[in-house]
Amino acid sequence: MVITVTLNPAMDKTLMVDNFKVGAVNRANISRYDIGGKGINVSKVLKEFGVDSLCLGFLGGIWEQRFKDTLDKRNIKHDFISIKGDTRTNTKIVDINNNVFTDINEPGPEIATEELELFIEKFNHRCKVEDIVVLSGGAAPGIPKDIYKTLIDIAKKKGTLCILDADGELLKYGLEAKPHIIKPNEHELSKMLCQEITTKDQVIQAGKKLQSSGISKVLVSLGEKGSILTAPEGVYEAEGLKVKVKSTVGAGDSMVAALIYAHLKGFTPEDTLAFAQATATATVMMEGTEACSLNHVMEMVEMSKEKVKELK
Ligand SMILES: Nc1ncnc2c1ncn2[C@@H]1O[C@H](COP(=O)(O)OP(=O)(O)OP(=O)(O)O)[C@@H](O)[C@H]1O
Ligand SMILES: [Mg+2]
Repeated sequence: MVITVTLNPAMDKTLMVDNFKVGAVNRANISRYDIGGKGINVSKVLKEFGVDSLCLGFLGGIWEQRFKDTLDKRNIKHDFISIKGDTRTNTKIVDINNNVFTDINEPGPEIATEELELFIEKFNHRCKVEDIVVLSGGAAPGIPKDIYKTLIDIAKKKGTLCILDADGELLKYGLEAKPHIIKPNEHELSKMLCQEITTKDQVIQAGKKLQSSGISKVLVSLGEKGSILTAPEGVYEAEGLKVKVKSTVGAGDSMVAALIYAHLKGFTPEDTLAFAQATATATVMMEGTEACSLNHVMEMVEMSKEKVKELK
């Protein structure tokens, strides 16, 4: 089973407003709500790939039932801890006329000590040998910064494969537990190593350094430039594909889902990278937070394979 952890889910509320003006009364033409959070996004893409997963984390308040109903409708398993606080709403204001996008993200509910303990207990109970666990995204207030280290330590003792996709201190402490796979972007990598990483050589050196510290695979995503995978077999580069970009939201999350799919299918590192890049590219070609389909990814794979090369 694949387990995805979302410690601070958010209801993504998108408002379409023509000529959005700060400090004025604006009228929205359209509003829509999508369940979100990085782990949940990974689960959505996995579903498109025909891979079942279980979503864990915290839910509370008015959105709790809406999340559960939506996951049920999508046939995605879930076992969240019910909390006293309210799951947050992240608002996106989209002004198509002027091509201006404004995001207002809430911090999320305070997680009580007992709620966190219940979660850790559940996580411990759920992780099994041969499972894959994805730890991604930020944590709600009240959750200690070393939470991913705690969870990876638990999972590794059970023989579970751990994938970490986080930022800042959550990533820094998480790395101490040596997850099997990480997927930082350029910015996260720079912060992690406390040095500005801008060139390809720097990314390669960083990947090798992380690998020698005990992390088996490091996939660094470089936005439109593509990505670099450091695997036990070697280092591989995928030059970015030039496509019409509609939204880059969730591109990194879809890559994490692709890594899982590639692992389950036993892909070579070259094919893993080509598939991950094809998935991310298919995602950026979609509006909003919609997950890409496996058919669309497969259409992109051949093009993506041509962009992959081993770096000697
Ligand atoms: N503008 C773009 N054009 C083409 N491909 C893109 C673009 N932006 C992102 N991608 C694809 O998506 C992948 C992941 O993007 P990015 O490095 O921005 O991830 P991220 O910052 O982790 O994203 P997320 O917001 O999901 O966390 C890239 O490696 C690339 O394949
Ligand atoms: Mg990311």
